[in-house]
Amino acid sequence: MTTVLVTGGAGYIGSVCCRELLSRGCTVEVVDNLSTGHAGAVPAGAKLHTIDIGDRQGLSAILSKNKIDVVYHFAAKALITESVRNPGAFFDVNVARGVNMLEVLREHGVRKFIFSSTAAVYGITKVVPTPEDHSTDPINPYGESKLAFERILSWYAAAYGWSVMAFRYFNASGGAADWGENHEPETHVIPLLLQAASGRRPFFEICGTDYPTPDGSCLRDYVHVVDIAKAHLCALQKMDRAGFHAYNIGTGTSRSVKELCQVAEKITKQKINVRNGPRRPGDPATLCASPRKLMDEFQWGPKHSDLEEIITGAWLWERTQSGNLTARA
Ligand SMILES: NC(=O)c1ccc[n+]([C@@H]2O[C@H](COP(=O)([O-])OP(=O)(O)OC[C@H]3O[C@@H](n4cnc5c(N)ncnc54)[C@H](O)[C@@H]3O)[C@@H](O)[C@H]2O)c1
Repeated sequence: MTTVLVTGGAGYIGSVCCRELLSRGCTVEVVDNLSTGHAGAVPAGAKLHTIDIGDRQGLSAILSKNKIDVVYHFAAKALITESVRNPGAFFDVNVARGVNMLEVLREHGVRKFIFSSTAAVYGITKVVPTPEDHSTDPINPYGESKLAFERILSWYAAAYGWSVMAFRYFNASGGAADWGENHEPETHVIPLLLQAASGRRPFFEICGTDYPTPDGSCLRDYVHVVDIAKAHLCALQKMDRAGFHAYNIGTGTSRSVKELCQVAEKITKQKINVRNGPRRPGDPATLCASPRKLMDEFQWGPKHSDLEEIITGAWLWERTQSGNLTARA
């Protein structure tokens, strides 16, 4: 039986991956300091260790007790705007504490590692949809910290024969009645939009309407978290090859924020109070993945990433969260 150590398993994407791993019969050990995650999001059957990834002694104790086959590393600071204001905290958690963790893994002989990277490593993309061999030039400290950690991992793969995959997620999204995004503060577009639909927020603000896109709002590639989790499961079968490998996880199509508003109004049957606002620092105009490499090598496909399915699930979650019985299904 495969035992997987999941850092950040109490968070939005990590907790869904834990579910998928458990459904495949894996043993799941979660490391999470609950800074942005929630103990209640960790599925029954996974063991939560409430420690920081920088806690060498704590990690070492877990690795001494459990033979870990693979690490899924989701734990990170991940808010782009916060990273622009406070870059040091991002390099601390996403790079320095990450290296601390790698050293503990190395001491315990772990050699298989899957890293949650991001489209933000590319910066302003010149080729859309963007392939993995596109130049990397982040425009915010968050993306810079993720790129730095990718590069560190490639050196670990070269020096110690590790098998490493970096999955560059585009816009992770979706939900269900029993799981969904629960960040404080929330900065992701779909939950913000649906909170305006349910009445938890007075309005939804489009951050920038003067981008060089067809309708002036940002274009993003929305990929369902279950599709992301399935890619992680496919990866389990490919961990016998040493080396560093980067893969995009996205759909190859992008939708604008204004389009999201239209789809959200249709699905929620609510008139959403939408306002135009200024751009946010650190946001590129367009992000869209080429998922070709993942599709070809893993026979993976984005089966749940239709925008209507994404928003329908996220709306179910928002209704559970808001307890707003006046919002019609
Ligand atoms: N959500 C997206 O659209 C998206 C896109 C690209 C990449 N990613 C990456 O995916 C990963 C998961 O993102 P998410 O949206 O689920 O975020 P999240 O904030 O919901 O989850 C992150 C989890 O990591 C934990 N954590 C943070 N710092 C920690 C530390 N020092 N020690 C231990 N635990 C710590 C948090 O408590 C939380 O449970 C992150 O690495 C993020 O950078 C997310």
